[in-house]
Amino acid sequence: MPVITNIDDLKRLHKKRTPKMFYDYCESGAWTEQTFRENVSDFDKIRLRQRVAVDMEGRSTATKMIGQDVAMPVALAPVGLTGMQRADGEIKAAKAAEKFGVPFTLSTMSICSIEEVAKHTTKPFWFQLYVMRDQQFLENIIERAKKAKCSALVLTLDLQILGQRHKDLKNGLVVPIKPKLGNLLNLSTKWQWGLEMLGTKNKSFGNIVGHAKGVNNLGSLFSWTAEQFDPRLDWDKIKRIKEMWGGPLILKGVLDEEDARRAADVGADAIIVSNHGGRQLDGALSSIRMLEPIVKAVGDQTEVHIDSGIRSGQDVLKAMAMGAKGAYIGRAYIYGLGAMGEAGVTKALEVIHKEMDITMALCGRKHIEDVDRDVVLVPEDFEGRWAK
Ligand code: GLV
Repeated sequence: MPVITNIDDLKRLHKKRTPKMFYDYCESGAWTEQTFRENVSDFDKIRLRQRVAVDMEGRSTATKMIGQDVAMPVALAPVGLTGMQRADGEIKAAKAAEKFGVPFTLSTMSICSIEEVAKHTTKPFWFQLYVMRDQQFLENIIERAKKAKCSALVLTLDLQILGQRHKDLKNGLVVPIKPKLGNLLNLSTKWQWGLEMLGTKNKSFGNIVGHAKGVNNLGSLFSWTAEQFDPRLDWDKIKRIKEMWGGPLILKGVLDEEDARRAADVGADAIIVSNHGGRQLDGALSSIRMLEPIVKAVGDQTEVHIDSGIRSGQDVLKAMAMGAKGAYIGRAYIYGLGAMGEAGVTKALEVIHKEMDITMALCGRKHIEDVDRDVVLVPEDFEGRWAK
């Protein structure tokens, strides 16, 4: 068994053990992938202040996100097709998150359904919603999330229309799915993945099949999905969804100060500064660059969370220092899942926790809630001088 010391180790194993088309789906950004890359490289521009002679005993990373207790301010981000990275992937990830004491967010485009994940977990998870044109489906899925006792709705705002990821087109991971011969051959070499897949009934979009009118086979499923993402989503509709849901609401995909203010005015419990992991608008600024301006724009009107580019506990700590109250990992846990199933997700969480804890200590802080702007050194021109 290889010794896993960091998230990159999990990524290498994920690549080896998972069919190329699903690894590529995870490891893609839109078009040139500039934003996808800068989400990560911009974190590296921020440095940490080493402090000494501070009592480091009795440290804690425990805090709250939207008033809910978390073992560390990290949540698992919603990721589509997680159950294709590994059989029953969403269930495995949700279980690992529950045991660790961090929130798991189930994607609308998951393989395992809301009900399946609820059946295999004991604590509430969060549900991510894509707004679909089919009003009945929309009302129904919100009801299903309530029935499953989901403790937050994470409404995605930055995917009314899908960004283009070249790798998916080249692999045939398109609508309707047309895998290339090379991909099918590659798939046949991933025998452990295949064996586990044969053993599960969760092989399609579990939240949709059997719940959307006229969707009863793979062909109809793919065409329904392609037509259904609602391009008309606007602030009024967001307000209506908030009313329909009636519980804690997190708005995901905010990357602009004006939008952040609108989101806070709507009464969101939190917003997620995000560019969808660089998968939507290529050329957009990285999330970490936009974090501080957005924190300033909303003040304490709403909690600010961040995703996109977080691959280590140091990244989480930097984000906390710059005003975030929570950070989401997507790829970082998917690498773990593809590498080693549930144990790999746990490993990813352990790696991130350890990195955060040691960094926090070496920066002279004992509690994650004491981590403030003094912990980081941020280049003067970090936000960039852009002519608007
Ligand atoms: C869906 O959320 C995607 O980014 O593929």
